[in-house]
Amino acid sequence: MSQRARNYIDGRWEWPDGCRAIESRNPADWREVVATAPDSPAPVVERAVAAARAAFPAWRRTPPPRRGQLVRQAGEILSREKERLAHLIGHEMGKPLSEGRGDVQEAIDMAHLAAGEGRRLYGDTVPSELPDKLCLTFREPVGVCGLVTPWNFPTAIPAWKGFHALICGNTFVLKPAEDVPLCATEFVRCLEEAGFPPGVVNLVHGHGALTGAALVSHPDVDLISFTGSSEVGAQIGATCARTHTNVSLEMGGKNAQVVLADADLTLALDGVLWGAFGTAGQRCTATSRLLLDRSVYDDFLQQLCDRAKNLRIGPGTDPATELCPLVNEPQFRRVMEYVAAGTREGARLVIGGRRASGDGREHGWFVEPTIFDGVTPSMRIFREEIFGPVLSVTAIDSLDEAVRLVNDSPYGLSSCVYTQDVNAALRATREIDAGIVYVNGPTIGAEVQLPFGGVKKTGNGHREAGRTGLDIFTEWKTVFIDYSGRLQRAQIDTD
Ligand code: UN1
Repeated sequence: MSQRARNYIDGRWEWPDGCRAIESRNPADWREVVATAPDSPAPVVERAVAAARAAFPAWRRTPPPRRGQLVRQAGEILSREKERLAHLIGHEMGKPLSEGRGDVQEAIDMAHLAAGEGRRLYGDTVPSELPDKLCLTFREPVGVCGLVTPWNFPTAIPAWKGFHALICGNTFVLKPAEDVPLCATEFVRCLEEAGFPPGVVNLVHGHGALTGAALVSHPDVDLISFTGSSEVGAQIGATCARTHTNVSLEMGGKNAQVVLADADLTLALDGVLWGAFGTAGQRCTATSRLLLDRSVYDDFLQQLCDRAKNLRIGPGTDPATELCPLVNEPQFRRVMEYVAAGTREGARLVIGGRRASGDGREHGWFVEPTIFDGVTPSMRIFREEIFGPVLSVTAIDSLDEAVRLVNDSPYGLSSCVYTQDVNAALRATREIDAGIVYVNGPTIGAEVQLPFGGVKKTGNGHREAGRTGLDIFTEWKTVFIDYSGRLQRAQIDTD
């Protein structure tokens, strides 16, 4: 029996009259409908935005430490619900249970990070050029935020955006990906239980083209924060430009792992297996290129293939699963198209490249772990984000060549370098064009207290989480207080 995922508007759960239903299905068995949700049209979005607007004045005046208590409480409730939510994520989005727990833990961590910020939200005191004058800065909320979130981290990403939005004094309307309405609903239930006033937190389900478009183009939305594909991000950016709506975009990646000849190769092997095949490669931080020193190439590739072939493929809800299915049929088709493109363009398919079947897997979107070698920079599998368990391997002869290849990408999210040479590691961290660089660790696994985001086509210059996430959800107010009792002109206005 599938469940109903409802909208949450102004503190009430509702299924709007006459709405078409969208279905989320189990990625491991596509015959099973996990949940139905309303495909909310513009008038529904309108009501959600109006509720968020109405709740904003009181919420922005709520002292930040009090906001922090509610955010912390939401974190406590998420902790209590962690196991149940991890199972739900495994069922609706498909990732392995251990990774579902991680998804929820990231949300809990984010709640705690944001809650603490309620007692900081620091501004600056800055000296004035004039006597008897104070200069201060304050963080002010932006207003009503539209949060448009993807399916791959159905709890963590709404939490990154939502908790920072709330602690800063914003209200929000969340539009989650249509593949994970139940995960989003259960997340919002935790926030409801924490006791946010009606209208502060709102949730509208539906397709991007209908519900998302209505939210993004709504004139009373002050900020859109989006994580998802580069194509949709470009449309959102263009829409927001027309209305001068603030916009933060977190999009694609084509992350590379560099392995130099002197690396701890066992460590590098563990790293690339986890980075490439964790969440079946469906992370924007996933390792999709391996740049491997020629002197260790053959051995390393052999071992990598042996280990990858033995990853246990299965449903996310099976605790033994190491490689989960892809989320849906379009993703499956996209990945298979890239496999075909790789072969067509002359890369060598070393392992995988097929749908994984047998053991009851024929009804799910399972793809074998796939490794190509001989991949060159002109190939699509070297350049384009695949979002599946597909790794492209290219030989390198030096650190300089590795850095050049890492940077030969339209994207710049995550990257990593394996070496024991401190000089090489430091040069790599300086020269790699990416928002995130790991030394001797995989490209996935960012921590919420650090800035998250990328350069080039990955984003539009923002960093979520960390302290920098506050910059997305606040506007600076500069205040000058003159206590001289006379007109003091600024230095530029005096001779
Ligand atoms: C994403 O895939 O959009 O760094 C986020 C990681 C996770 C977040 C990934 N903490 O792999």
